[in-house]
Amino acid sequence: MQNRRLLAIESSCDETAAAVISEDGQVLANIVASQHELHQDFGGVVPEIASRAHVARILPTIKSALKESSTATGDLHAVAVTSEPGLVGSLLVGLTAAKTLAMSLDIPLVTVNHIDAHIYACGMGQKTSVFPSVGFVISGGHTNLYDCQSATNFKMIGGTTDDAAGEAFDKVARILGLPYPGGPSIQKAAESGDPKAWTLPRPMLKKPGLDFSFSGLKTAVLYAARGVPGPNQLTTTPQDRVSDLAASFQTAAVDVLVKKAQRALKATGHRRLCVGGGVAANRLLREGLTRMCHSAKVAISIAPMELCTDNAAMAAIAWEHLRHGKTAQLDADVLAGLIRVPAPHTRTKRKPKTDS
Ligand code: KG4
Ligand code: ZN
Repeated sequence: MQNRRLLAIESSCDETAAAVISEDGQVLANIVASQHELHQDFGGVVPEIASRAHVARILPTIKSALKESSTATGDLHAVAVTSEPGLVGSLLVGLTAAKTLAMSLDIPLVTVNHIDAHIYACGMGQKTSVFPSVGFVISGGHTNLYDCQSATNFKMIGGTTDDAAGEAFDKVARILGLPYPGGPSIQKAAESGDPKAWTLPRPMLKKPGLDFSFSGLKTAVLYAARGVPGPNQLTTTPQDRVSDLAASFQTAAVDVLVKKAQRALKATGHRRLCVGGGVAANRLLREGLTRMCHSAKVAISIAPMELCTDNAAMAAIAWEHLRHGKTAQLDADVLAGLIRVPAPHTRTKRKPKTDS
């Protein structure tokens, strides 16, 4: 009997993506149509531009995934789609396409949480389960730590009180005059910079707990780059400061992320760390987390590079939902922000996030 196939759709932010995944977890096609060029002039994602681009790209992307995996629509067992969290207009494009396919093909619809999928990506292609573990999602919209008991049981234990780590990379890149998305630009500029050239803060490390804050670090970079607010503040960053500031910022952000991950491992007692999300593609971070886990004698599973930034293959988590009989109805809706209320002792003030 042919391995059953699932079509997965992702449109939560600025990537239109479709994948075909078999029941044994094989990714048969993984198509990602990135919109980066459309948002570059703005230094960040513009929601209305994103949703319009999803409308134009969703059907060709789905068609490519089906073609590449030699899958006919009649071969599909189910349709999975990211329904939360993310940009509402963008999510609706994917959800509408998924509902239409599920209804017309008379197959189950499965809705997927994007953050859960980022963690699930860490175990894809592995022979043994990566759970239980500490899950760490570091993306453009989230910097969340989870106590993960199984592939479908994640409890949030820490998060950012303001900017997410990826958001800080994007905003610092803008300050330094580097192109969007900021993470890869900063990583590149940092290669020729001195990470010790500027002393930058390591926010929230002196406080107990598992929360993060990156907006103060971003402001520290702004003042170092252009001076403090006032008549003498520069409007652009002098070119000779860019690489040193990129390197100093990247090192400060990575320091915080590694130390908080270490703290989460200690707090939960888990013997494995799973790391996903766009920022998990950062080389310095991957090396830092790997070193920390090795010295703590803890296993580490970082999502493969192609599954760090947004993609539909990680919606393979839908197979877990199907095994538990968890399907969605055709009146399923999207959700913009976070759904999980974090444990009270780990939380301070939270600003609701609207991007993925
Ligand atoms: O997971 P993702 O594709 O989308 C969200 O769910 O937000 O993450 C995008 C974020 C962006 O902020 C981008 O600047 C960051 O991931 N990013 C990186 C790197 N590649 C992407 N940050 C640091 N270093 C990288 N190499
Ligand atoms: Zn993401």
